[in-house]
Amino acid sequence: MDEKIIKDLISKAAGMRKISYTPYSKFNVGAALLAKNGKVYTGCNIENASYTPTICAERTAFFKAVSENVREFTAIVIMGGHADSDELEYCFPCGVCRQVMSEFCDDDFNIIIAKSEDDYKVYTLPEILPERFGPKDLFG
Ligand code: THU
Repeated sequence: MDEKIIKDLISKAAGMRKISYTPYSKFNVGAALLAKNGKVYTGCNIENASYTPTICAERTAFFKAVSENVREFTAIVIMGGHADSDELEYCFPCGVCRQVMSEFCDDDFNIIIAKSEDDYKVYTLPEILPERFGPKDLFG
């Protein structure tokens, strides 16, 4: 993938961390999802006092896109770390978010786990979700 595009996605994901709603975990995650049409859909995690309604940054981004009738994607950047820390962790998507990616993404979809614009790792979907269950299992 083009490095300039990756850096732009990282910058957008970093910006989204600042508006995460995380009064319970104080773990802020930002995501920037690049659609095949060139548009970028951003997301942050949004927590809830009842805990289970919490949604991850990645799913926020996917559901924003899909709710605008966009269903084809190239890559997602994910950035996560504690709200009060400048040092980010490599933040891998949870299992539920991996399954949502699986619904809409092909094997060449890139998952980019970033700490900064110069420090990131790139994975494909089968690398982080091998032997996945998806629409093909139901419809062939
Ligand atoms: N979280 C995400 O938003 N994405 C991930 O990939 C991992 C976890 C959120 C959910 C919750 O608000 C907080 O991080 C702690 O689990």
